[in-house]
Amino acid sequence: MKILNVVGARPNFMKVAPLNRALQQHPHVQSRIVHTGQHYDEKMSDIFFRQLELPQPDYYLGIGGGTHTQQTARIMLAFEELLGEYKPGLIVVVGDVNSTLAASLVAKKEGILLAHVEAGLRSGDRGMPEELNRILTDSISDYLFVSEMAGMINLSREGVAEQKMFFVGNVMIDSLIFFRQKASQLKLEDLVKQRISSGTAPSTPTPSFRGRDYALMTMHRPSNVDDEQGLNNILQIIRDTVQRLPLIFAIHPRTYKHFEKFGLLPTLEAIPGLVLLPPQGYLQFLKLMDNAALIITDSGGIQEETTYLQIPCLTLRQSTERPSTVELGTNFLMHTLDPDAVRQKVDDILDGRTKKGVIPPFWDGMAAERIAEILARG
Ligand code: UD1
Repeated sequence: MKILNVVGARPNFMKVAPLNRALQQHPHVQSRIVHTGQHYDEKMSDIFFRQLELPQPDYYLGIGGGTHTQQTARIMLAFEELLGEYKPGLIVVVGDVNSTLAASLVAKKEGILLAHVEAGLRSGDRGMPEELNRILTDSISDYLFVSEMAGMINLSREGVAEQKMFFVGNVMIDSLIFFRQKASQLKLEDLVKQRISSGTAPSTPTPSFRGRDYALMTMHRPSNVDDEQGLNNILQIIRDTVQRLPLIFAIHPRTYKHFEKFGLLPTLEAIPGLVLLPPQGYLQFLKLMDNAALIITDSGGIQEETTYLQIPCLTLRQSTERPSTVELGTNFLMHTLDPDAVRQKVDDILDGRTKKGVIPPFWDGMAAERIAEILARG
């Protein structure tokens, strides 16, 4: 039984790693990996293969950046060509990035069975590219593996047949559980040594950290970081937060480029108490999350990881496709990029007015095994 796993962008790697490992346990399954190259550099891709103990991809499409249409179209052409050479019986896609949708379309046009891991999530916001990727991928998948209860309800509502849906839990949490101990051995003081600076602002002292004494930030959604107003709001949020505690900002290349483009990098770098880091490896970021007092983000996956770790998380987005992180977990949906609301919430959390959260069902480290079992049964 030949299974081809598709990865493309940073949030895919930690989902495919446990899956590939679980598939290897089934002797009659041959599990291969194709990397589209949507994310391509050391910090956004290569380091994840090493740290997650993923074998080098069997196939690399090398499509690189570009507009969403360019990325999607280039992946489709290259993937079609690959399928001419290697004919799998089943293609597995994960998450909601452009690579997920592009590979899914080609799979079905070639008449190959398609499995979607992390199916059924819906933010209800069709302005998000990821939402379109999710809806379209789910609508043509043969196996839909769901990570939280809301996903099952969404798929039923969309008329997906019962026998195609499987509530299996969260493969990203599989990776977190698998690597948490290893990440814990890293030292915070070593991580902050990677601090970056463009040299355009006077350098501020680097605080020393012991754990639970800093806030951690990531921010990369086009709706937050592509225009000047959004960046100014982020600057204000950082200025307010460092009044209470130092903040570590692991900055995505897209966000960095926009701060540069609008001439705001010197303003950012001059904020005392801010530590600007480049994109982090998997283990480094896990260590940073596990020791933070709170996290401010617009990521999809970090909402889930902080829920598992029971660290308060402020999600600066209109909506979430992962409602269990708010209803059960430690996530607070902030709806807008409003510095006043964020300041208030940060105060609440640091002054003990927060929630403890529980871990959603099946986020237990075994999701990939459940999926592999179902796929191997055929
Ligand atoms: C993509 C996903 C998003 C995911 C995010 C995680 C889609 C629609 N979006 O968004 O869901 O949360 O990945 O990072 O698929 N770049 C580099 N090095 C790289 C890759 C990208 O510098 O290895 C730069 C690109 O040149 C580009 C920017 O980062 O300017 C954005 O990359 P892109 O793949 O277009 O989308 P993301 O914003 O990363």
